[in-house]
Amino acid sequence: MSEKIFNPNPEFAKDAKINSMEQYWELQNRAIEDYEGFWKDFADEKIDWIEPYDNVLDESNAPFYKWFSNGKLNVSNQCIDRHLADKAEQNAIVFEGDKGDVQHITYGQLSERVNELSNLLKNKFGVKKGDRVVLYMPMIPEAAYAMLACTRIGAIHSIVFGGFSSEALRDRIEDAEAKIVITADGAFRKGKPYMLKNVVDDALDAGGDSIEAVLVVKRNNEEIKWVEGRDHSYNELIEAESTECPFEPMESEDPLFLLYTSGSTGKPKGVQHATAGYILWAQMTMEWVFDLRKDDVYWCTADIGWITGHTYIVYGPLAAGGTTVMFEGVPTYPDAGRAWKMVQDHNVTQFYTAPTAIRLLHKTGEDEPKKYDLSKLRVLGTVGEPIDPPAWKWYYEVVGNSKCAIVDTYWQTETGGHMISPLPGATPIKPACATFALPGIITEIIEEDGTPTPIGEKGFMCITRPWPSMIRTIWNDPNRFVKSYFGDCKKDGEAVYFTGDGAMIDEDGYITITGRTDDVINVSGHRMGTAEVEAAIKKHDSVAAVAVVGKPHEIKGEGIFAYIVLKDPSEASEDLKIAINKVIKKEIGAIALCDAMVFVPDVPKTRSGKIMRRILRSLAKGEEITQDTSTLEDPSIVEVIEKIVKEG
Ligand code: PRX
Repeated sequence: MSEKIFNPNPEFAKDAKINSMEQYWELQNRAIEDYEGFWKDFADEKIDWIEPYDNVLDESNAPFYKWFSNGKLNVSNQCIDRHLADKAEQNAIVFEGDKGDVQHITYGQLSERVNELSNLLKNKFGVKKGDRVVLYMPMIPEAAYAMLACTRIGAIHSIVFGGFSSEALRDRIEDAEAKIVITADGAFRKGKPYMLKNVVDDALDAGGDSIEAVLVVKRNNEEIKWVEGRDHSYNELIEAESTECPFEPMESEDPLFLLYTSGSTGKPKGVQHATAGYILWAQMTMEWVFDLRKDDVYWCTADIGWITGHTYIVYGPLAAGGTTVMFEGVPTYPDAGRAWKMVQDHNVTQFYTAPTAIRLLHKTGEDEPKKYDLSKLRVLGTVGEPIDPPAWKWYYEVVGNSKCAIVDTYWQTETGGHMISPLPGATPIKPACATFALPGIITEIIEEDGTPTPIGEKGFMCITRPWPSMIRTIWNDPNRFVKSYFGDCKKDGEAVYFTGDGAMIDEDGYITITGRTDDVINVSGHRMGTAEVEAAIKKHDSVAAVAVVGKPHEIKGEGIFAYIVLKDPSEASEDLKIAINKVIKKEIGAIALCDAMVFVPDVPKTRSGKIMRRILRSLAKGEEITQDTSTLEDPSIVEVIEKIVKEG
């Protein structure tokens, strides 16, 4: 890590919401001294309560914490209605399609669209408070309308990323017992139409029996299969709906949404977020970390299928009354200047993306940013994986013209919003370092028994106090919730939230995230569970056993490397590799495709049958094996695999 420190731009800091480390420490010390008082002040200031809450934090049933119990609010009111008095004409969403088509949607128009859809869901489909609605949508404004309509009527949305396969979609529909799917015929990517509705059809052909209706938005106008009685046209039905729909008063702890994410074992888990705490932190971090100001145009390039798209495309920016850009396409089409052209055309002031995208944009168009006017940019953000120093440097110097703060935001699906991040007007930044926990977030890097990890050494990244936007449970599986997050680390004898990440603290108190300590692979900033990928590969008839690990990848951060044991070793061929990847695509989706596969006679296991992935990770990287192999059932297998990997 470079030792150079980048102080906040004084011009920027002058008007920033948090503009000095003194102010940061004032806030953080207040949280440390009076945790509930700190959160109460912000909840009272930021949330439009319909009925007051009676308890800031209820820890009586830990780790099932409750925040702002018995208060009533509504997230679509927080994001739309309460802004209408002074922002009806302000753009809420600026949409740019893959082909360059642009829509400006004001808060007034957003209100109408969301109200209509709320009425449609309620009146035509009988969607009620607590019902689950699956969204399988492209990046079009209707996806945001659907999210907000669900929150308006108290339905719980579960968004399934459009890159997931029909099998993955069906699993998520079935786990949540969803009542309705909202989808689109498809959308456009790289100038061409692609399809989504057929994936929904396939998912429902073989299950998903709880689904009563499929609501289809028209986007690319391609021909689609239509199941009479089940499929309904959004574009036709919406015409008849009123643009007024009262919002449902929701309890603070009512579930707001589910979002499935991978863990180190088993199937993806339905991370359940609650209403008040989530929206409060989404709004506060939007204001603090992106320093959102009046007339700003903020662009986050994520997909709404991931938590970043939830919190920092829709809920955070809208709760904060900002203007959020939504983009259907990819930042390198039609050329490597597309993202920068959009920043110029829409006068973007904050740009938020993943290191994988930065590496790609750097590699494919090193000088492209210089061709566009990026002078409005003030804050650049990164998320999803550690950013490497060369990517950081290019982002800072070439994209930000050495003037913008870079906020390396560390957080997770489960945390709901940012946990550790620089504050752009306050924090002296060390490149590629997430820096400090945000005010109100109490983190510690500890050993399993709770002792602090010494400076400069890797320990477990824990969050030792509950926080408002934290995961409440795993849908239908409270035991797994406790085991997954509160099973590994203890502090003063109490289980504390363990993120699954390793981290280091330096002598100045700066935190650097060192990556997952479990069997989760981070592919292009997205979590892939090894167990999930292995389960998919095992569905191929020729496969007897498999172990997958992450291997460093120039653009994606990590790629997937699979060690496969065949039932009949003579079947090994390049065609078989292609066929196995096809199964992965069918079971999970293209994001889980393996970058490399090797056929091996066996995988290294301990005598108790546990796969030694650490050894496999080293072998995939071509490293010398320094680990102790004497506990293996068959230590000689390591040399055999090493030879196979070397020979490719
Ligand atoms: O390993 C950490 C990594 O991404 C994981 C969370 O993934 P997910 O729930 O899919 O959410 C991604 C978007 C918030 C974390 O456990 N991660 C996320 N942000 C960073 C990061 N690793 C290092 N630096 C970051 N800024």
